[in-house]
Amino acid sequence: MSIMEMYRAAIKLIRDSRHLVAFTGAGISAESGIPTFRGRDGLWKRFRAEDLATPQAFKRNPKLVWKWYCWRMNIIKKAKPNPSHKLLSKLEEMGILKAIITQNVDDLHLKAGSKNLIRLHGSIWNIKCIECDYTDRIDSPPKEIPPRCPKCNSLLRPGVVWFGEPLPPSEWSKAVEESTKADVMLVIGTSGMVAPASNIPYIAKSSGASIIEINIEPSMITPIADVFLKGKAGEVALNLSKLIEIQLQ
Ligand code: OAD
Ligand code: ZN
Repeated sequence: MSIMEMYRAAIKLIRDSRHLVAFTGAGISAESGIPTFRGRDGLWKRFRAEDLATPQAFKRNPKLVWKWYCWRMNIIKKAKPNPSHKLLSKLEEMGILKAIITQNVDDLHLKAGSKNLIRLHGSIWNIKCIECDYTDRIDSPPKEIPPRCPKCNSLLRPGVVWFGEPLPPSEWSKAVEESTKADVMLVIGTSGMVAPASNIPYIAKSSGASIIEINIEPSMITPIADVFLKGKAGEVALNLSKLIEIQLQ
């Protein structure tokens, strides 16, 4: 298929869908200035995940882990949604998109106005105690690191999912339900290398959904994609919105 045929096929699938669901990864936020994990400029090129994003790493060096999260919080705090986040919120407002399942801990889908958001890896703005049930929401990096629990004085940790940890069960079951219901899934900016999240497009596909993928390069999802739109998420979203005649404010 030529590029134009790919776009036409994507638009037809989106227009005719009864239950469109999006599945997003770090690549959707790349043009908003938030680094991805894998790929040429990915965070895991510069840092070791085992030193920063595991419960063991936190036990070993909570200050280092917090330093890294504060650095990312400062980037995420400044970041603004790009046209791909906006296209998804617009499609939801139009009644076409039913849910977004995201692996991202940034809040750009919320900033873009999306409502039905399923967050498989948590939010970078949630913090929780490692000992008791205390949780809190913050909107800036903690002033002193590592921060301590006001209830029991143990360490507070980022409320995100780390390697080796289970996904929040309620989010996972909502994600499975939506991907089972989906007749079209829009997969944007994910390498598809981190399970169980990466199973989501496969669950949709085996329940009969067509898969539209947007990525700058092929991923682990590409083998099951019916339509592959190669390019940066924001640029592809702009092209799609022009072709569907949607105004992105
Ligand atoms: P990755 O960093 O693994 O993959 C990013 C994907 O986005 C790659 O396939 C890139 O080709 C693509 N990409 C990069 N820039 C893009 C752009 N401008 N437009 C479109 N695509 C672009 O990110 P995820 O798949 O989200 O886990 O990673 C999954 C999980 O691994 C993350 O949620 C995180 C990480 O460790 C946790 O935080 C638990
Ligand atoms: Zn506590």
